[in-house]
Amino acid sequence: MSNAEQIEYWNGKVGETWVLMQERMDAALTPVTSALLAAAAPQAGEYVLDIGCGAGETTLAVDTAVGEGGHAIGIDISEPLLARARSRAEALLSEAEFIAADASSWAEEQGFDLILSRFGVMFFADPLAAFAHLHGLAAPTGRLVFACWQPAARNLWATLPLTVLADLLPAQPPSDPHAPGPFAFADAARLATILESAGWRDVACHSLPFVMRVGDGDDPVASAVQFNLRIGPAARAVRDAGIGDAAKPVLAAALQTHLADGVVALPGAVWLVTARA
Ligand SMILES: C[S@@+](CC[C@H](N)C(=O)[O-])C[C@H]1O[C@@H](n2cnc3c(N)ncnc32)[C@H](O)[C@@H]1O
Repeated sequence: MSNAEQIEYWNGKVGETWVLMQERMDAALTPVTSALLAAAAPQAGEYVLDIGCGAGETTLAVDTAVGEGGHAIGIDISEPLLARARSRAEALLSEAEFIAADASSWAEEQGFDLILSRFGVMFFADPLAAFAHLHGLAAPTGRLVFACWQPAARNLWATLPLTVLADLLPAQPPSDPHAPGPFAFADAARLATILESAGWRDVACHSLPFVMRVGDGDDPVASAVQFNLRIGPAARAVRDAGIGDAAKPVLAAALQTHLADGVVALPGAVWLVTARA
């Protein structure tokens, strides 16, 4: 996909689904958000850019951390997610700003002390050019901190639905493992090379395993089925194949085995990436 295709993708059904799922996604990703913010360590007075900010969870948190003397800007290509972010900011009386633009070419401001992202940097058609551009937006002492997914094989939340539904889904054609998408930066060595070639220094990819709560509430298994049919690689495959009704009982049986203490939870693994300008 080119960035134009990503713009279409995130402004369509997927963007609307992410808006619907915002609270649940933010809850499921709480361990990642906490680790990301700890690594980013936003300081009072800092000027921060959040790439692919989506519905604004990390932008809002960082804007609070930098205080009145600082400022956080969230940038995204998805109008529905930006609308959600702006309404959350209004409700919280936050001064965080949300801009609709492609982060790989937006150049209205620069001198950011911190550029961060929670899963918003894996969708660039040309990652080297995009990270070189972001390097140009950073202050000379600026830092880059983001979370991206480790290989799918370490993310059962993503692979389990596809595995158990394999018999119902058409055979998936082989795809480019580095193509824009959630797992584009699964290979940490390749990612480090891209970042270094783009001008970033002291690049480090820290491994963060965590447990992702995909189902809870009155009926945790039904909630987990709904999660999997809305978000992640299986959601798209099921939608494209039109097998939602057939998929539900199969998913429910598989997810039931991961139910404990009223929660369906599946392992995930993230790279927490840090670098200096
Ligand atoms: C997986 S979502 C993550 C959203 C949010 N950071 C979160 O953690 O909930 C990826 C986000 O990146 C955005 N995105 C993709 N390509 C982008 C680009 N070139 N510039 C800005 N945002 C982009 C999408 O619109 C989407 O909101």
